[in-house]
Amino acid sequence: MARAGAFVWAFLSVVLLAFNTSHGDALGVNWGTQASHILQPSIVVRLLKDNGINKVKLFDADSWTVNALAGSGIEVMVGIPNKDLQRYNSYKKAKHWVEKNVTKHLYDGGVDIRYVAVGNEPFLTSYNGSFLNTTFPALSNIQKALDEAGHGDKIKATIPLNADVYESATNKPSDGQFRKDIKDLMIKIVKLLHEKKSAFVVNIYPFLSLYQNPDFPLDFAFFNGGGNPTEDKGVQYTNVFDANHDTLVWALRKAGVPDLKILVGEIGWPTDGDKNANLKLARRFYDGLLKKLADGKGTPLRPGRLDVYLFGLIDENMKSVAPGSFERHWGIFFFDGKPKFPMDFSGKGLDKFLEPAKGVIYLEPKWCVLNRDAVKNMTQVEPFVNYACSNSDCTSLGYGSSCNNLDQNGNVSYAFNMYFQMQNQDVEACNFNGMGKITTKNASTGTCLFPVQMMSAGEKLIGYGVSVTGFMGLVLFGLLW
Ligand SMILES: *[C@@H]1O[C@H](CO)[C@@H](O)[C@H](O)[C@H]1NC(C)=O
Ligand SMILES: *[C@@H]1O[C@H](CO)[C@@H](O)[C@H](O)[C@H]1NC(C)=O
Ligand SMILES: *[C@@H]1O[C@H](CO)[C@@H](O)[C@H](O)[C@H]1NC(C)=O
Ligand SMILES: *[C@@H]1O[C@H](CO)[C@@H](O)[C@H](O)[C@H]1NC(C)=O
Ligand SMILES: *[C@@H]1O[C@H](CO)[C@@H](O)[C@H](O)[C@H]1NC(C)=O
Ligand SMILES: *[C@@H]1O[C@H](CO)[C@@H](O)[C@H](O)[C@H]1NC(C)=O
Repeated sequence: MARAGAFVWAFLSVVLLAFNTSHGDALGVNWGTQASHILQPSIVVRLLKDNGINKVKLFDADSWTVNALAGSGIEVMVGIPNKDLQRYNSYKKAKHWVEKNVTKHLYDGGVDIRYVAVGNEPFLTSYNGSFLNTTFPALSNIQKALDEAGHGDKIKATIPLNADVYESATNKPSDGQFRKDIKDLMIKIVKLLHEKKSAFVVNIYPFLSLYQNPDFPLDFAFFNGGGNPTEDKGVQYTNVFDANHDTLVWALRKAGVPDLKILVGEIGWPTDGDKNANLKLARRFYDGLLKKLADGKGTPLRPGRLDVYLFGLIDENMKSVAPGSFERHWGIFFFDGKPKFPMDFSGKGLDKFLEPAKGVIYLEPKWCVLNRDAVKNMTQVEPFVNYACSNSDCTSLGYGSSCNNLDQNGNVSYAFNMYFQMQNQDVEACNFNGMGKITTKNASTGTCLFPVQMMSAGEKLIGYGVSVTGFMGLVLFGLLW
C-alpha cells in the first residue's frame, strides 16, 4: 500500500517481514525515492550494508540507483511503474526493457537482480480499473523476455499486490477468496506465477486496519497478543497479520495453487501524521515483527521462514498524502538516514539503534521563523502559511502528530522553515513579505523537529520542484484559524 489508495477490507489487513533465524540473512526493505532531497545512492547502499539488510525492493529501474547496488551482494527487486504497463503489452518493448534494465546489470560483479515487479498495486479500487487490461500481458511479456534472455531460472516477474485483491465475507481466513470483480484475472495471474516458479507479492498493513476502522482492536494490530484471539477451523489467530496472510493462503488453495510462494512486499508502521503513527507504536510493531521473523515460525498455515520487505527505508516528503498525512513518515530512518527508534534486526529486542547513514552533507544550521515584530495582524500571514505548506511538507503539524503542540506562532514558523529548507535555504524563500526571518538558533522544541535539509544528491529535485499538492496547505489553512 503506502503507494496509493487505502482501503483493504474492514478487518483483515496486515503486514509481515522476513529473515532467517540465526543470522537474519534475508531481511528486505523498500527503497522509495519520492523525496525532494535524496541521499546519494552510494550512501544508501552503505546504510543497507552497515545494517545487514540484504534484500531491497525498488519502484523503478532507475540506473542511477541500480548501478549503486553493483557488487554489493544485495538481492534486488527492480520495478516497472503502473503508468508504463501498457507500453510493455508490446513484447518488443518488454524485450528492450529487459535488455536495458536487467541484462545490462548482470555482468560479473554486477547487480544481483532476483525479481521484476510489474506494476505496483495496480488493482487498487481507487484506480477504477485503469490497469486491469494491461497488467497481465505486461507480466507475461516481461517473464517471457527474461526467459528468452536466459535469466528465467534466477529472475522472476511478479506483481506486488495490495491485500485488497482478496477478501473474506466472514473475516475468517478459510472464507478467503480473490476479490469478486477481479477473480478470473487473479486466477490467471497466480497460475502463471506458479508455472514460472515465481512468487505472490502481497502488501499487508495492520496500521491501515486500525486507521480505517475506529473499532479495530488495537492489540490485534501487533504481535504480542493481548486481544481476543479469533478461531478458524481449529486455528487461533492472535494478530491481524497472520489472519490476513492466511486468508491469502486459502484464496491460493481455492485457485488451485496451494504451494505458490508468498513474499510480503511491504510491511511497516509510520511514525508521524496520525494519532496512531508515532515512535512508540512503531517500535512496538517492529519489535513484535522482528521477533516473529527471528522465530522462523511463520503463520499457522505457512509455518517456516517469512520473506519480508519492510516499508520503508527512508521517509519520503513528496509522497501523495491522499491516503493520509502518515504517508510521508513510513521510514525506519528519517529523511537524512538517522534511525528513528531502537530496532534490533536479530529479533532479540536489544535496546540499540540502527547504524545511521554516513557521509551525509547538510545545509548550514539555519532556520526560517516568523518575525513577530513585522506582523500587525495574524490574518496577514494566512496566505503565506498556505503557500509554504502547499510547497513543502507540513504533515507533522496535524492532530496527533509530532508538532501538533506548537502555538500559533510556532505553527507559522514551522511552515516557513519547511518551505525555506525545501528551497535549499534560499534567502528569498524566507521573505514572506517581510514576516520571515533567518535565525541560527535551533527552532526545534520538544518532540517537534525543525529540520535542516541536506544537500540534495540532485537528480530527483528536477521534475518535482514546487508541485506538491496544495492539499496540506488547505488543510492547515483550515485548522490554523
Ligand atoms: C528502464 O527503466 C527505466 C526506469 O524504470 C525506464 O525509464 C526506461 O524506459 C526503461 N528502459 C527501457 C528500454 O524500457
Ligand atoms: C476514479 O473515480 C473517481 C470517482 O469517479 C474519481 O474521483 C477518481 O479521480 C478516479 N481515479 C482515477 C485514478 O481515475
Ligand atoms: C478493458 O477491456 C475491456 C474489454 O475489452 C473494455 O471494455 C474496457 O474499457 C478496457 N478498460 C480499460 C481501462 O481500458
Ligand atoms: C536542533 O535540535 C533538535 C532537538 O533538540 C536536534 O535533534 C537537532 O539535531 C538540532 N539541529 C541542529 C542542526 O543542530
Ligand atoms: C485583521 O485583518 C482582517 C482582514 O484584513 C480583519 O478582518 C480583522 O478585523 C483584523 N483584525 C484586527 C485585530 O485588526
Ligand atoms: C497549529 O496547527 C495545527 C495544524 O493545523 C492545529 O491543529 C493547531 O490547532 C494550531 N495551533 C494553533 C495555536 O493555532
